[in-house]
Amino acid sequence: MRHNFGAGPCILPQEVFKQASRAILDFKDGLSILEISHRTPEFEAVVAETEKLIKELLNVPEGYSVLLLQGGASLQFAMVPMNLLPDGQTASYLETGVWANKAIKEVAAFGKANVVASSKESNFTFIPKEYSIPEDSAYFHYTSNNTIYGTELFDVPSTNIPVVCDMSSDIMSRVIDVSKFGIIYAGAQKNIGPAGLTIVIVKDELLGKSGRKIPSMLDYKSHADGGSMYNTPPVFSIYVAMLNLRWLKAKGGVAEIEKENIAKARALYAEIDRNPFFKGTCAVEDRSRMNVCFVMENPDLEKAFLKLAEDNGIEGIKGHRSVGGFRASMYNALPITSVHTLIELMQIFAEKQQ
Ligand SMILES: Cc1ncc(COP(=O)(O)O)c(C=O)c1O
Repeated sequence: MRHNFGAGPCILPQEVFKQASRAILDFKDGLSILEISHRTPEFEAVVAETEKLIKELLNVPEGYSVLLLQGGASLQFAMVPMNLLPDGQTASYLETGVWANKAIKEVAAFGKANVVASSKESNFTFIPKEYSIPEDSAYFHYTSNNTIYGTELFDVPSTNIPVVCDMSSDIMSRVIDVSKFGIIYAGAQKNIGPAGLTIVIVKDELLGKSGRKIPSMLDYKSHADGGSMYNTPPVFSIYVAMLNLRWLKAKGGVAEIEKENIAKARALYAEIDRNPFFKGTCAVEDRSRMNVCFVMENPDLEKAFLKLAEDNGIEGIKGHRSVGGFRASMYNALPITSVHTLIELMQIFAEKQQ
């Protein structure tokens, strides 16, 4: 059996894969989901249900639009300032990792980025807490989960200006209060579905205020007005996301999956803290539930542990090159039994060394 701890694109439920493959062969009257027009009533129903499920699962209040876009979270790094930041004005950013840094870099084409705090000096092993957000910034941007470094910010920073959040790697993993945000965006390829789809949840009152002429494809308003059908949407990615969100709903929704995610993270961090051969890489209070980063006390043993893990069906735990060691990504679809398998292997490895 394989246990997929990959950071993304990542594990999705097996039943979703089965349903998706059936729709490739026959979605409607013998036609594949890959060959039907996105303008058919059947596919329009898929878009409508996907949006409805996102709204339901995240309890999105009135006054927000859910957009199904393309271009990944990386395009959002540029679309956010393009749509929200008037020429020459300032937007504030919290720098907690490479993705936050990439978002900051994109601001220069439109205005100024004010970095309120950064943990770069310590290779992003913690989330800065002491900073103030200037009220004259157009918006404040942060990354809720730092996929590479394994830190997560659970409380929405308090400010009166619109809060923009890159939630690519923890959306749908825990309950959030959408009303605290101006924009939430996420590449779909973690807890939502396959790559190729990007989710944007935008407060309608923020649209059309930059005073800038924006190309239609990059203007949130075109997509909001066009019901995410301004152009041909990523049909298959949306369909699989719908199946995955149905799966999440049937499991009891985000509050239920959050309990499982807490249990999975607690179990693995407990072993990392207990087992003398391993240690965590981040500040304990900022530890991510989605991406657990850890190294070995003796780095010379890492190769041998990786081999033991891979020989026993563990996939994708090699750490990102900028952190080293291991990263166990534990997205919604990863069963706790996979986490138990990894923990057992850590214990077996430690016993063998003694
Ligand atoms: C937090 C975060 N933001 C942004 C990105 C970039 O996303 P994309 O590849 O969809 O552009 C990633 C990718 O892993 C990520 O984890």
